[in-house]
Amino acid sequence: MDQLNQSNLIKKKPLLAFPLIINKEVKYTLYFLVLVIFSILFSNLVTPFDPRSLLRFGFLSQKPSHGACDYSKGRWVWDESYPLGLYNESCRFLDPGFRCHQDGRKDEGYLKWRWQPNGCVLPRFNASELLERSRNGRIVFAGDSIGRNQWESLLCMLAQGISNLSTIYEVHGNPISKHKGYLAMRFQQYNLTVEYYRTPFLSTIGHPPQNSPSQVRTAIRVDVLNWYSRLWRGADILIFNAGHWWNHEKTIKQGCYFQEGGKLNMTMDVMEAFRRSLQAWKSWVLNNLDPEMSHVFFRSYSPVHYRNGTWTEGGHCDTDTQPEKNHTKLESEPYNNIFISDVIKQMNYGNWKVQFLNITYLSEFRKDGHPSKYREPGTPPDAPQDCSHWCLPGVPDTWNELLYAHLLSNEFRTK
Ligand SMILES: *[C@@H]1O[C@H](CO)[C@@H](O)[C@H](O)[C@H]1NC(C)=O
Ligand SMILES: *[C@@H]1O[C@H](CO)[C@@H](O)[C@H](O)[C@H]1NC(C)=O
Ligand SMILES: *[C@@H]1O[C@H](CO)[C@@H](O)[C@H](O)[C@H]1NC(C)=O
Ligand SMILES: *[C@@H]1O[C@H](CO)[C@@H](O)[C@H](O)[C@H]1NC(C)=O
Ligand SMILES: *[C@@H]1O[C@H](CO)[C@@H](O)[C@H](O)[C@H]1NC(C)=O
Ligand SMILES: *[C@@H]1O[C@H](CO)[C@@H](O)[C@H](O)[C@H]1NC(C)=O
Ligand SMILES: *[C@@H]1O[C@H](CO)[C@@H](O)[C@H](O)[C@H]1NC(C)=O
Ligand SMILES: *[C@@H]1O[C@H](CO)[C@@H](O)[C@H](O)[C@H]1NC(C)=O
Repeated sequence: MDQLNQSNLIKKKPLLAFPLIINKEVKYTLYFLVLVIFSILFSNLVTPFDPRSLLRFGFLSQKPSHGACDYSKGRWVWDESYPLGLYNESCRFLDPGFRCHQDGRKDEGYLKWRWQPNGCVLPRFNASELLERSRNGRIVFAGDSIGRNQWESLLCMLAQGISNLSTIYEVHGNPISKHKGYLAMRFQQYNLTVEYYRTPFLSTIGHPPQNSPSQVRTAIRVDVLNWYSRLWRGADILIFNAGHWWNHEKTIKQGCYFQEGGKLNMTMDVMEAFRRSLQAWKSWVLNNLDPEMSHVFFRSYSPVHYRNGTWTEGGHCDTDTQPEKNHTKLESEPYNNIFISDVIKQMNYGNWKVQFLNITYLSEFRKDGHPSKYREPGTPPDAPQDCSHWCLPGVPDTWNELLYAHLLSNEFRTK
C-alpha cells in the first residue's frame, strides 16, 4: 500500500515539483532532484533513491569506542597518488549523471584530494576485507538520491575486490538504470547483497484522510516508517539518510501536510515533522533490529554548493575546481544534523551499535566535487547545474571510507 502511495506520488507531477527548504542551497538541490526525476520519468527510465548512514558515539564525544577517532574533523590534502587503487568511471554501477569526466569535465584535480582526519589515520579501504567481513550478509541503504550516490560508490569500491564482475547481479534482474523502488545487488562469491531503497522522507507518504481540506494533496505519516522498512529487517549494516526533502518547499508548499495518529495536523511545521519522523525511525530500529547483529548508521546532511543564485536562477558551481580553503566560509550546522544526532544520543544504551556518520563538515569544503554543468548525455544546455549530487569517483567514496573505518573499529563481522 505504501508502494501504491509511492507510485501515486510519482504520477502526480505537482507533488514532485515540491521542493524543500532549510536553506537556499538545499532548496536548489531539491529542485534539481525533482528535475532529475522528471527527466528520468520522461525518458521512461525511472526514478532515484537514497540511502544512508551513521556511526557510533565515537564522534559525539560521549562514549568513544575503543580506538575510535573523530574522523569528521580534519582537512583535505592533495595526494598525487590518488585515486589510489580506486575504481574509475567505467564501473557499470554508476549513473550516467555521476560520470563527470565522460560527461565533459576536463579538470581532474577533484580526484586527487584525500581526507586527513586530525590526529589519526583513516584506514585505507580494502574491498576484500569488507567483503570477507560481510560474507552472507546484507548492506542496506535507505534514503534519497544522495544516498543512492553513496550506494553506487560503495558498489564500485567493493567490486574492486571481485575478479569476475559477471558474478555481481541485481537479484530481480532489474537494470541499474531503475530509479524507482529498490535495487539489490548480489555479490555472488560472498553471498552478500548491497541494497538501495528509495525513501526520500523515510516516512510513509500517501493520500490524506478523507474530508481533508482541499489544499491537502498528500500526507506524510510522521509516525509510520516507509513500507519498505519491513524489507530492512535482518540487515547487517544499515545506512540511512534524510534531509533534502524535509523542507517547506517540498512539502506544505506543494500541498503535502503531516499526519500523526491517523489525523492530519495542519499546523505542524516541517522541522517538527522531521523531528517526529526520527522518533518513529528510532522506535522502528529498537523494535525491528537485533542489537547483536545490526550496525546502524544515519549519515549526516550532504551540503550543496549553488553559487550566485538558486538552481532556477542560474546558480552554478562549474567554476569551482578547487576545494574551499577558507574555513570561515563554512556553513552553520544544518538543523537536520542536530535532530539526527540528538535522536542517536537517545539510543546510546545496551548493545546497540547506532552511529551518526558525520560527513557534513568534510563535504562542505568540496564545492569542486559536483557534476555542475557536466550532466548526463541528453541534458539540455540550459538545464540547471547539479551542485548537489557528487561526481563518482569522488566525495562519497570518502564517506564510505569513514563508514569502513567505523565498521573496523566496531569489529564488524557477520556471524
Ligand atoms: C559534525 O562534525 C563537525 C566537524 O567535526 C562538527 O563541527 C559538528 O558539530 C558535527 N555535527 C554534529 C551534529 O555532531
Ligand atoms: C578502469 O578500470 C578498469 C578495471 O578496473 C580497467 O580495466 C580500465 O582500464 C580502467 N580505465 C581507465 C580509463 O583507466
Ligand atoms: C586486504 O584484505 C585482505 C583480506 O583481509 C588481505 O589479505 C590483504 O592483504 C589486504 N590488502 C591490503 C593492501 O592491505
Ligand atoms: C547466504 O546468506 C543467507 C543469509 O543472508 C543464508 O541464509 C544462506 O544460507 C547463505 N547461502 C549460502 C550458500 O551460504
Ligand atoms: C564469470 O561468471 C559468470 C557468471 O557466473 C560465468 O558464467 C563465467 O563463466 C565466469 N567467467 C570466468 C572467466 O570465470
Ligand atoms: C499539531 O502539531 C503541533 C506541533 O507542531 C502540536 O503542538 C499540536 O498539538 C498538534 N495538533 C494536534 C491537533 O494534534
Ligand atoms: C552572478 O549573476 C549576475 C547576474 O545574474 C551576473 O551578472 C554575474 O556575472 C554572476 N557572477 C558570477 C561570478 O557568475
Ligand atoms: C574568509 O571568508 C570570510 C567570510 O566570507 C572573509 O571575511 C575572509 O576575508 C576570508 N578569508 C580569506 C583568507 O579569504
